[in-house]
Amino acid sequence: MIKLTHVSKSFDGGQSYAVKDLSFQVRKGEMLVLLGSSGCGKTTTLKMINRLIEPTQGTVEVDGKDVMGRNPVELRRQIGYVFQGIGLFPHMTVEQNVEIVPRLLGWSSRSKRERMQELLSLVELPPESFAKRFPDELSGGQQQRIGVARALAADPDYLLMDEPFGALDALTREALQQELLTLKKQLKKTIVFVTHDLHEALLLGDRIAILHEGHLEQIGTKKDILNAPATQFVRDLFTTREPGTFTLRDT
Ligand SMILES: Nc1ncnc2c1ncn2[C@@H]1O[C@H](COP(=O)(O)OP(=O)(O)OP(=O)(O)O)[C@@H](O)[C@H]1O
Ligand SMILES: [Mg+2]
Repeated sequence: MIKLTHVSKSFDGGQSYAVKDLSFQVRKGEMLVLLGSSGCGKTTTLKMINRLIEPTQGTVEVDGKDVMGRNPVELRRQIGYVFQGIGLFPHMTVEQNVEIVPRLLGWSSRSKRERMQELLSLVELPPESFAKRFPDELSGGQQQRIGVARALAADPDYLLMDEPFGALDALTREALQQELLTLKKQLKKTIVFVTHDLHEALLLGDRIAILHEGHLEQIGTKKDILNAPATQFVRDLFTTREPGTFTLRDT
């Protein structure tokens, strides 16, 4: 379980806050979607979960332990991270990208290779034709699949995904969303998924946490949020948009 308690983050010594007094829990096995417009603190929140960013106030716990007391390498073994944008290392092959964490953990060459092959097959990119390619020899959707494979390398309990499908065309995006739902059933991971796309949030989230200017407006299931919006901001998300245009824009 992941638990944030009164978490705030300021990058400027307290003059302004990227995240303000945020509390929520992610339950075991669920996919929680963090939804909000650009700059509302989604990436900052995600990075505080695996300690890439340290909170100014409040506590972040993973499995009941404060992440500030954990060894960061051990913590990140347990938490896979799919970076915003594509985030593959361009000078490394697919194989080398996927093996980054196993290499850090000192796995044998054989275990690394077997795991890499297993993961490429899982994301439906046959290792024979993809392992030796460089990222610029892949399509955007294929690169994104490799990003997911890389995050799963050490079989983490948790997966943090930062707008993983943001840069893709609509069709590829839909295909990957469906794949993720299948993968989730198969792997039983606890996932925090960041997006600014309302449609994507409603499709993927077991629950959705709506962020606005660094604070939580509402957290709940799709049904909770649609039936009982907690704030005017949440109400406006669903009422002021033309049908079918769900993407949040900068306010
Ligand atoms: N390292 C940093 N130093 C200073 N300010 C930062 C830093 N990282 C983020 N911020 C600021 O904190 C706020 C929240 O940023 P964050 O990256 O969390 O937003 P986001 O919701 O992920 O946005 P987007 O959808 O555009 O990725 C922004 O105002 C941003 O400029
Ligand atoms: Mg972001």
